[in-house]
Amino acid sequence: SGALEGSNAQRGLWSSRLAFILAATGSAVGLGNIWKFPYVTGENGGGAFVLVYLLCIAVVGIPIMMAEVMIGRRGGRSPVKSLSLIAEHDRLKPAWKLVGAIGILAGFLILSFYSVIGGWAISYVGTTASGQLAGQSADTVGAVFSGLLSDPTKLLAWHTLFMAMVMVVVVRGVRSGLERAVSILMPALFVLLLIVVGYAMTTGHFGQAAAFLFQPDFSKLTTSGILVALGHAFFTLSLGMAVMMAYGSYLPKNISIAKTSITVSVIDTGVALLAGLAIFPIVFANGLEPGAGPGLIFQTLPLAFGQMPMGSLFGTLFFVLLIFAAWTSGISLLEPIVEWLEERKGMNRTVSTLGAGFVCWGLGIASILSLNLWSDFAPLGFVPMLEGKTIFDLLDFFTANIMLPLGGLLVALFAGWVMSRQAMERELALSPAMFNLWLITVRFITPVAVAVVFIYNLM
Ligand code: PFF
Ligand code: NA
Repeated sequence: SGALEGSNAQRGLWSSRLAFILAATGSAVGLGNIWKFPYVTGENGGGAFVLVYLLCIAVVGIPIMMAEVMIGRRGGRSPVKSLSLIAEHDRLKPAWKLVGAIGILAGFLILSFYSVIGGWAISYVGTTASGQLAGQSADTVGAVFSGLLSDPTKLLAWHTLFMAMVMVVVVRGVRSGLERAVSILMPALFVLLLIVVGYAMTTGHFGQAAAFLFQPDFSKLTTSGILVALGHAFFTLSLGMAVMMAYGSYLPKNISIAKTSITVSVIDTGVALLAGLAIFPIVFANGLEPGAGPGLIFQTLPLAFGQMPMGSLFGTLFFVLLIFAAWTSGISLLEPIVEWLEERKGMNRTVSTLGAGFVCWGLGIASILSLNLWSDFAPLGFVPMLEGKTIFDLLDFFTANIMLPLGGLLVALFAGWVMSRQAMERELALSPAMFNLWLITVRFITPVAVAVVFIYNLM
């Protein structure tokens, strides 16, 4: 029976590692990879931006993900409680509470516009399923997208549906079914992306796209582009919001934090790069503009699905899977504020979910109007850096490019300067050389990198 116990224990551990990877991947892989990565890459000139983004993932993202998971596992509680438990005797204890506050607010603000884009994906299930774009020109496909943006009622309906989907899961507080689904649907999304990449190779513009993505032209790199790359590294890995801290609190002690963090980051980066390789050949083959902005995937992918064999089927499947990816991320965006309302304000789960979800939904309307009736309204346009930014642009800018890097900076400082070295050595269980490399990164490299990017952009 000893052997049996051993094998049971092992099975249990393996599934816990898998469960964590699924939950973390479900949060990480989302609209950030397929919608945002291609369009910010296009807006920022390609290769050099991609290189900085990859550097940010490796040098800032992975070490901070490890720090978040480690703090969560060491504290074993909700992020706010874990931080204050570990920082019991630290003078700066109030500062560390800020990490939780930033996370809760950022998640709420991000979800308000994330849900609007999730709504676009829902709308495109019908658009591709109907076959109305089969064999159509880039102009027609573009006109269909513009038509959607100019219709606030439609956008509101799809935004409402997406938010309702997120709220239903958060109210129930069960994710086990979703985690199982992630293990099937994420690989399926990956395969569909591969199919589109396969089609993209037939357009004759694959080489041009690969060069655009991977041949850095540093003359196209701006200081604001570097800030966007840094912010996107946080956004895409769901960092700086204490989400990974919350998930880390469920991670069994004997599982490698480094390996799981790297696995999640590699999957996330792989999906983003595949999305880029799927989209840019279509952009160049049809003479479209790489810097077209947030509509990029909705103006290119339907064009590809309209031209490839069984395109309506693949297109429909693709957008269904995209909705699923966005859904699992949306849940992790709403969860922190709901937990906070439960813990701190004593609300029950249903009331806190309905309350937070409703306010978030209402804020989403401002993003919807930014796409049409308020498209010329730039509330902070008098600030040079924010010129021409609509409410939607501002929400994206402040959350991804300011709040998440700031949250991440605090996490790095906390791990680098507050937590005990022995505790961290035990949690991370790395070789001495690797541990020191990680420690130097969170102590110096990450904080300095974030600070320098911030200061340069303020000047
Ligand atoms: N990482 C998600 C994406 O790439 O779509 C977005 C996100 C989810 C950001 C959860 C932050 C977060 F806490
Ligand atoms: Na992501």
